[in-house]
Amino acid sequence: MENASMSEEKVEEEEQIVNPWEVAAKDGGKIDYDKLIDKFGCQRLDKALIERVESLTGRPAHVFLRRGVFFAHRDFGDILDAFQKGNKFYLYTGRGPSSESLHLGHLIPFMFTKYLQDAFKVPLVIQLTDDEKCMWKNLSVEESQRLARENAKDIIACGFDISRTFIFSDFDYVGGAFYKNMVRVSKCVTYNKVVGIFGFTGEDHIGKVSFPPVQAVPSFPSSFPHLFSGKENLRCLIPCAIDQDPYFRMTRDVAPRIGYHKPSLIESTFFPALQGETGKMSASDPNSAIYVTDSGKDIKTKINRYAFSGGQDSIEKHRKYGANLEVDIPIKYLGFFLEDDDELENIRAEYGAGRMLTGEVKQRLVQVLTEIVERHQRARAAVTDEMVDAFMAVRPLPRMFD
Ligand code: TRP
Repeated sequence: MENASMSEEKVEEEEQIVNPWEVAAKDGGKIDYDKLIDKFGCQRLDKALIERVESLTGRPAHVFLRRGVFFAHRDFGDILDAFQKGNKFYLYTGRGPSSESLHLGHLIPFMFTKYLQDAFKVPLVIQLTDDEKCMWKNLSVEESQRLARENAKDIIACGFDISRTFIFSDFDYVGGAFYKNMVRVSKCVTYNKVVGIFGFTGEDHIGKVSFPPVQAVPSFPSSFPHLFSGKENLRCLIPCAIDQDPYFRMTRDVAPRIGYHKPSLIESTFFPALQGETGKMSASDPNSAIYVTDSGKDIKTKINRYAFSGGQDSIEKHRKYGANLEVDIPIKYLGFFLEDDDELENIRAEYGAGRMLTGEVKQRLVQVLTEIVERHQRARAAVTDEMVDAFMAVRPLPRMFD
C-alpha cells in the first residue's frame, strides 16, 4: 500500500497523530511504530539488510542501525543492489530552520547521514527549507534565511565532507532545473490528493498547498545540473525521521509518471522528550529538550530534574522490584548515544534488577551527553562564514564519488 487513504487517515486520527507538523501518541501512551509502518506502507528494516550494509561498506553498522533508531525503509534494498553492482547513489536530507539552536533530536538524521556518506562515499545534498518555515511559523523571509545560515553551521559541524556535500537554501537555489521539476511534479498532484496526504483545509493559505513539490524534487538528480548532469539515472536515498514520509509518498507516487526513479528512504523513530515517550523532543519547550548549546551544568540539571525515570519511588522498592526500563528515559537516551554495546547491556541488567539506582544511570547519561554536546560546540565554533559560503556555493563536485 503506497498511500494512506483519507478515510484511514480519519480513523487513525483518533489514535496517534504523526505528520510533518505534529507527533502525538494516543492518550499519553507511546508512539506505536509497528502501526505507523502499516499505516504508511513502508517496510521494517530487518537484520538481513543491516548485515548487507556491513558487508558492502566493510564497517560495523552504525549504533542507530544496531539499536533500531533507523527502523523503517522504502526500497532501501534497491539502493544496495545497485551499489553492489557498482552503481553509486546520492543522499538527500534536509532541515526546516525554525529555531536558532538545535536540540539532540535534530542532530540524529545528520549524524546518521554523515555515517552513510563516509561509509558509502557518496555525494549529499542538504535542503534548508527556509521557505517552508517562513510559511508555517510566522517568520519573516529575512529571519528564516538568517536561521537557515545559522543552522547550516550546526549541520557543517556534524563533519560533512565539503568535497561531497552541497547545502542549499530554497530561497536562494529554487529556479532553473529545480523549478522545472517542481512544475512537472505539481501537474501530477491534484488538490484532493494533497488534502488526503497532508490534511490541509480551506483555511490554510495556498503557500502550504504549493510547498510539497519543493521538498519532493531534490529526490531527482536533474534538479542539480551542476552536480549530476549526464547522471540523470542516479538513485537517491533519503535518510529522515518518519514524520517526513508523507512528502516522499507523494514524491514516489509521481516519480515514474515523469520518467524518474522513485527515491528510496531510510526512516528513524523520534527522539523522545525528557518527560517521556509520548511525542518528540520539541524545540519550543525548553524543559523537554537538551540543546546543542546547553552547558554541562544545564544538561545535569535537566537530566536530574526532568528525565522521566522508570525507577521505583523508594530505594527499598527499587532494590526489590528494579526499574521499569520500558518507560525510563535515561535508558532510552543511552540507547541512542552510548556506543559501547556491552556497557549498555550491563547497565540495563543492573538497573532492571534494582542493583543500580536511577541517580547512577543519570550520572552516566550526563557524561555521555556532555561529551557529545561539547564536541559539537567545539566543532561549531570552528565553522566560519566562509565555510558556510563554500558548502552553499553552486559548484561541481568533481571528486564526489572517489
Ligand atoms: N521538512 C523538513 C523539516 O521541517 C525539512 C526537510 C526538507 C527534510 N527536505 C528534507 C527532512 C528531506 C528530511 C529529508 O525539518
